Amino acid sequence: MTTVSGTEPLETGSDPRQSVSRRIFVAGAGIMGSGIAAQAALGGYAVTLEDVNEEFARRGLDNARRALESASKRGKVSPANVQVALGRIDVAIGLRRAEGADIVVEAAPEKLEIKRALFEELSGIVGPSTILATNTSSLPVTSIASAAVDPGRVVGIHFFNPVLQMELVEVIPGLHTRPEVVARASEFARSLGKSVVTSKDTPGFVTTRALAVLGNEAAWMLYEGTATKEDIDVAYKLGFHHPMGPFELLDLVGLDTTVAILDVLWDGFRDSKYRTCPLLRSMVAAGKLGRKSGSGFYEYPPKVAGA
Ligand SMILES: NC(=O)c1ccc[n+]([C@@H]2O[C@H](COP(=O)([O-])OP(=O)(O)OC[C@H]3O[C@@H](n4cnc5c(N)ncnc54)[C@H](O)[C@@H]3O)[C@@H](O)[C@H]2O)c1
Repeated sequence: MTTVSGTEPLETGSDPRQSVSRRIFVAGAGIMGSGIAAQAALGGYAVTLEDVNEEFARRGLDNARRALESASKRGKVSPANVQVALGRIDVAIGLRRAEGADIVVEAAPEKLEIKRALFEELSGIVGPSTILATNTSSLPVTSIASAAVDPGRVVGIHFFNPVLQMELVEVIPGLHTRPEVVARASEFARSLGKSVVTSKDTPGFVTTRALAVLGNEAAWMLYEGTATKEDIDVAYKLGFHHPMGPFELLDLVGLDTTVAILDVLWDGFRDSKYRTCPLLRSMVAAGKLGRKSGSGFYEYPPKVAGA
């Protein structure tokens, strides 16, 4: 573990002091935004975590705190470093504070119109050398980028959930993305201790395409009565050495996000293998979104304070 001072990284990974990027602005303080904020703070960056209102931004900060405390319980970060990392994160409402950021990471909902509106607005706020990154898990980076004034500085940086535990980052250049932007985005991810793979800007890239099919197929098997959800989860875990079953993973990712991803794959390929299981759609309509709504394939009772 590294020392606690200034803006040194508190976790393993290369030293971001070598990097030109020091200030990170995270737009969207949900599951991913809060994790990315925690990870960047551990990596020595000053982080602004932004959402559309105070309640959501504060909830994001609480989730970042919880993620750091849980990493501390697992022995990955000392309690002192948790406090230092938290001291590097502030919250904001609206995009104005993106002005001085070296990298903006957008982690808003998986809806093209929301992301395009954000990139259009960000273009009028950030300086000329700021990288605009999207954490989209499936939308075409090129379609998001084309809403920016300079699409050449837009790139996909796809983190995984939970961010502090997952080693991989998928970097996705859009059609316009300049090579130096891809290099800086990859350098940023590596400075957080992540391993980087690069994917072409095709629907779902490498990982989301594989993941969506895996989860959707499990939902179809449940829908058709092939096996119980518990048995399907056990089959994937013990049969394939997956650390989580598909329903546990669907609940973690969010059923709304998964349905949105399957729609993107369907729109992009028009291949029937991406037809969404109706069970997933009706669960989303019922508000059963997984962990984030407290109920999905499994139930997640609210945590009692101090428990
Ligand atoms: N959930 C996952 O496992 C996962 C994994 C990898 C990538 N992603 C991608 O990350 C992105 C975020 O997903 P999530 O699961 O964190 O979603 P989420 O629903 O948990 O959080 C999204 C947040 O964005 C906020 N928001 C909405 N409109 C906004 C705007 N205009 N400006 C700023 N914030 C806004 C919402 O209030 C919410 O807090 C999506 O593109 C998703 O596909 C998700």
